[in-house]
Amino acid sequence: MRYSFPLVVFCILFGSLSQSHAADTTPKQILPIIPQPVVVREAPTLPSGQQANATFQLSEKTLILTNGSQTESDATVFNEFLAAHFGFRLKVKRAAASQKLSAASVIRLVSTKIETNKQTAHAHKDAYTLTIGEKEITIAGNNAGVFYGLQSLLQLLPASQPANQALSKSTKMFALPTCVVEDYPRFGWRGMHLDVSRHFFSKDFVKKYIDYLALYKMNIFHWHLTDDQGWRLEIKKYPKLTSVGAYRKGTLIGHYTEKPVRYDSIRYGGYYTQADAREVVEYARKRHITVVPEIEMPGHASAAVAAYPELASTPGPFEVIGNWGVFYDVFCPKEETFQFLQNVLAEVIAIFPSKYIHIGGDECPKDRWKESEFCQALIKKQGLQDEHELQSYFIQRIEKFVNSKGRQIIGWDEILEGGLAPNAAVMSWRGEKGGIEAAKQHHPVVMSPTTTVYFDYYQSQKPGEPLAIGGFVPLDLVYRYEPLPKELTPAEQQYIIGAQANLWTEYIATPDKVEYMLLPRLCALAEVVWTPPEQKNYDAFMGRLKQHTQLLDAMKVNYSKSALP
Ligand code: ACM
Repeated sequence: MRYSFPLVVFCILFGSLSQSHAADTTPKQILPIIPQPVVVREAPTLPSGQQANATFQLSEKTLILTNGSQTESDATVFNEFLAAHFGFRLKVKRAAASQKLSAASVIRLVSTKIETNKQTAHAHKDAYTLTIGEKEITIAGNNAGVFYGLQSLLQLLPASQPANQALSKSTKMFALPTCVVEDYPRFGWRGMHLDVSRHFFSKDFVKKYIDYLALYKMNIFHWHLTDDQGWRLEIKKYPKLTSVGAYRKGTLIGHYTEKPVRYDSIRYGGYYTQADAREVVEYARKRHITVVPEIEMPGHASAAVAAYPELASTPGPFEVIGNWGVFYDVFCPKEETFQFLQNVLAEVIAIFPSKYIHIGGDECPKDRWKESEFCQALIKKQGLQDEHELQSYFIQRIEKFVNSKGRQIIGWDEILEGGLAPNAAVMSWRGEKGGIEAAKQHHPVVMSPTTTVYFDYYQSQKPGEPLAIGGFVPLDLVYRYEPLPKELTPAEQQYIIGAQANLWTEYIATPDKVEYMLLPRLCALAEVVWTPPEQKNYDAFMGRLKQHTQLLDAMKVNYSKSALP
């Protein structure tokens, strides 16, 4: 379901703030908040006599007031960010909304149901209002709303330091401009993916990655946990998935098109224990991010069949692969395989509370199935046309199991071939064609086309760019991406639940390079999925981004400067 919400009327609990916002052209519009909020304006209801350019002084003495456990948790995460990047924390206290306090400056967090104008609007479940007055900042929001308001607030800090000093851990006094921000997301799926199979990233770095997502109000972390080059999640029933499947004996050197092919001979691998994965899920939950795990099937299964060769169509043995591409030894659709995958998924579902479980489905060569007597007999027995329908049979069986556990599957757009499983969502990566087709069939769709949101592609054609897989996805291309295809009617567009970018890591071996490929393209993506399209403007974005890099510098992020002036 796409969330739509009229721009003009957003009457919140501080009722008198609802005014026409269409003509907001005040300098406050360029507050360096990414993604650009729906409304940013002067604070018209603040006490009279207030100076123009009035500010709120945020210092170590500022008190955070909460109204319950949700806002307390949001305040804790906010404080963790302050402590990590600015070297101080604010005191947190629970207080009734009406309570007057003697502290010189307070940030009041109010988890509340935001009232909306019944005739013109429906409440967005994650809406928030951030009101910066001279003595008090109030952030009121539904669900994730207060957390999102806090992200906007902390993005204002760098521009609010005195006299343009370099932002550093010793900066503990900020003068924030009085203003009102009224905001809510455009899409319900604001996703970012990370491949941890081609290269493995530590649990601590995965948390850092989640921090970046949280900063831009993204709400889905798609964790690509299995592939040909490594199985990265402990499965208690099948220990060889990690003792064997998590390690390869060497890795390709250079680009996979280079000949002759060369490998290092360094054993490479790693995996997350179930305790690690639960820790990541909880870390993300506190940041209002859902972790969607991906377990690839029936293709991209080399690491799994290296561990358990009986799951393939030929006897093996197989190896965990050290090269990049598409490989032939896929899961064979036999009962033993379904039992195995169901047992794996049962453990996955117990760890990850997400509504959707990603089952892959992409790039499954059918060669082994064509050569297999068993597969050909199964095609006949089930009355299937061909191997594509056999893949559809495979996915539908898995879907039945996942649905029986109260969850839904999402898969790459190849799951359309041979017939879409009845309740499946589709992630459209080979352009938008698959997404358009799925939406026409009334299935939920996440747009993730290679052409605009593959962050493993080059972002610059300048010399000196680090090696990438290929392609060209510069910042402005990401920014201008529009996830609702014109080919769809407004009713069909409702099935586009959002968009996400993917970060495949064949050529990304280190956290530094992940950051380089991720940022600032993630900033552009955030505006694609959050900001109303009529509010988007690339030049304005670049202006905000320039200011925002002060925060990235303070956070010591290795972002790419290729698109910056
Ligand atoms: C994909 O990029 N193979 C989904």
